[in-house]
Amino acid sequence: MCENFPTYIAEEIQEPLTEDEAALLSEDDLSKLGKSRRDFLGKTALAAIAAQLLLHDQAFALKYMSDAPVTNNAVSELAMTVKMTINGAEKSVAIEPNVTLLDALRERLQMTGTKKGCDHGQCGACTVIVDGKRVLSCLTLAAQAEGLNITTIEGLGKGDELHPMQESFITHDGFQCGYCTPGQICSAVALLDEAKRGEISYVSTNISKKPPTKLSDDEIRERMSGNICRCGAYPHIVEAIKEVQNGKAEAKSS
Ligand code: FES
Ligand code: FES
Repeated sequence: MCENFPTYIAEEIQEPLTEDEAALLSEDDLSKLGKSRRDFLGKTALAAIAAQLLLHDQAFALKYMSDAPVTNNAVSELAMTVKMTINGAEKSVAIEPNVTLLDALRERLQMTGTKKGCDHGQCGACTVIVDGKRVLSCLTLAAQAEGLNITTIEGLGKGDELHPMQESFITHDGFQCGYCTPGQICSAVALLDEAKRGEISYVSTNISKKPPTKLSDDEIRERMSGNICRCGAYPHIVEAIKEVQNGKAEAKSS
């Protein structure tokens, strides 16, 4: 047996057959194969393949999928050092090349304000701002953020002072459960900057001219369409964004 064979598999193989397993084998088979799980697995090709797969899966999980914070002792031989500026502070993290920015933030740096929703680029819960642009951190490798400036929900306010967009979300009840809210707020903050830069959207009508920096409700809805809110707080979110954009109080819908 491979010397790296996981202990738990080795121990399991030594256990006697369960009643179900024994029932699958005739008395004749049992006398030929022996009653130990070691013999049963050892003489069954399918079981041998399954054991190999288990071995491979565990090795893969240990190497690539560990949720444990990276410490000097836990870094795998594949780790690389990535330096980035997060919320104004320089961070250096030893990380495997396939770790996403989302997992680096949440699992390695314990910055759990950024949420994992779908983990497939479809819900926007993981939105952070990278060099002034909205980014889905679940689809971004941490290694791609080398040398970049990242702003997460934790970095929008100043100490105890909330960012105006955070205040406005509270004023307009722009959330219920709040799970999507960090992504919504990061997206909303970057969205207004995109508008100031004159970036167009799918619903911009006259693309030959620089679009107005004040966004219509339709523009806001379209530009926020990548951020899903399962609680359906959308009308309140639009109000909250408009209030920050216009710099004056928006009427609150019920
Ligand atoms: S968690 Fe990234 S888009 Fe859903
Ligand atoms: S507030 Fe619950 S998902 Fe948006």
